[in-house]
Amino acid sequence: MKRILVTGGAGFIGSNFVHYMLGEYDGLELLVNLDLLTYAGNLENLAAVQDDKRYVFVHGDIRDRALVNELFDKYGFDTVVHFAAESHVDRSILEPELFLTTNVVGTQCLLDAAKRHWNLEPDNKYCQEYKEGVVYLQVSTDEVYGALGKTGMFTETTPIAPNSPYSASKASADMVVRAYNRTYGMPVNITRCSNNYGPYQFPEKLIPLMLHNAKNDKELPVYGDGMQIRDWLHVKDHCVAIRTVLEKGVRGEVYNIGGNNERANIEIVNLILDVLEKPQSLIRHVQDRPGHDRRYAIDNTKITTQLGWAPEYTFQRGMGETIEWYLQNNVWVDHVISGDYLDYYTKMYAKA
Ligand code: NAD
Ligand code: DAU
Repeated sequence: MKRILVTGGAGFIGSNFVHYMLGEYDGLELLVNLDLLTYAGNLENLAAVQDDKRYVFVHGDIRDRALVNELFDKYGFDTVVHFAAESHVDRSILEPELFLTTNVVGTQCLLDAAKRHWNLEPDNKYCQEYKEGVVYLQVSTDEVYGALGKTGMFTETTPIAPNSPYSASKASADMVVRAYNRTYGMPVNITRCSNNYGPYQFPEKLIPLMLHNAKNDKELPVYGDGMQIRDWLHVKDHCVAIRTVLEKGVRGEVYNIGGNNERANIEIVNLILDVLEKPQSLIRHVQDRPGHDRRYAIDNTKITTQLGWAPEYTFQRGMGETIEWYLQNNVWVDHVISGDYLDYYTKMYAKA
């Protein structure tokens, strides 16, 4: 029976993971969700599980060493799944320092607490063989590999070459995780996933932003020519992949996760306009994102062949359900975009 620390469980992927584990994972004794509730974290995402006896929410910062140590002592975690991060590329261009402290220092703080609690030291036997029954999983991103040209795919051995402050911070965190594995024998996995979509995604990201604007007859701000390509994966498939790595992953290994589902941004925007029966005239090509990565594509051969994971959602089904979810959840959208987000939106798109 697992005692899991999930960080960032009130965000998009984290909250989907909390729902998935509490709902579909038999071997769960305890799941503690540590989240700072930044603009991206929202407890409404978790209303349905808040009374589950196996679930505990802690409002706090992954950079708070005393708090993280106290949680390890109190709950005796054997598993850490680290989602908490500043996750939006455009915000990282406006405010890089926050990304470095949260994403890098926050990761190191968690690793230190796990190392202390799991008694991992450089001179003990765990540098030769991993301690049984414990694992630290770093939720990383395909963006650490940088950008692809028209052909090729990211494999786990593609050189790390991040292009934004966000991806540089995620790449740096990956390197710290790797170092704790090599130096202290920390039983880690790093997963690098492609773009997720699905319920509870904050409407600053492409799909929910375009859906919200189209629904309200507002302009759809497409960066540059809109021909940038992303490899889209439904968030539930990502959650299942993480569980698969926890259960079957070889410790110390990196696993890429992706849906073999490359789409140009403009294709997604047009799809949303079609489904909502809105005119193409809502599209506005705006100034491109600085350092904008042209194309991402994940080679998922390692996780599919070695661990037996495969995505279940077709894009058609996943997008259909996602559009329906946003249309049915106006109240959730209205709540998350009130306040600070409106200031961000005005600042971000005013000069476009
Ligand atoms: P998100 O922005 O929706 O959620 C981030 C969560 O982290 C929020 O709940 C926020 O309150 C919390 N948080 C931020 N700073 C914190 C801190 N200092 N202490 C505690 N909690 C803090 O992010 P997401 O899209 O769900 O992404 C989750 C993870 O997955 C991130 O690490 C991201 O890099 C990675 N990832 C995301 C995608 C994607 O498409 N969204 C793809 C691959 C990997
Ligand atoms: O690839 C995984 C990454 O996917 C994650 O690591 C990040 O946390 C996540 O935010 C996401 O990053 P992207 O930058 O790819 O996602 P975003 O939704 O911001 O943008 C997707 C594409 O759409 C990208 O090419 C930029 C473009 N875009 C985005 C916005 C917000 C627009 O054209 N207009 C917009 O207004």
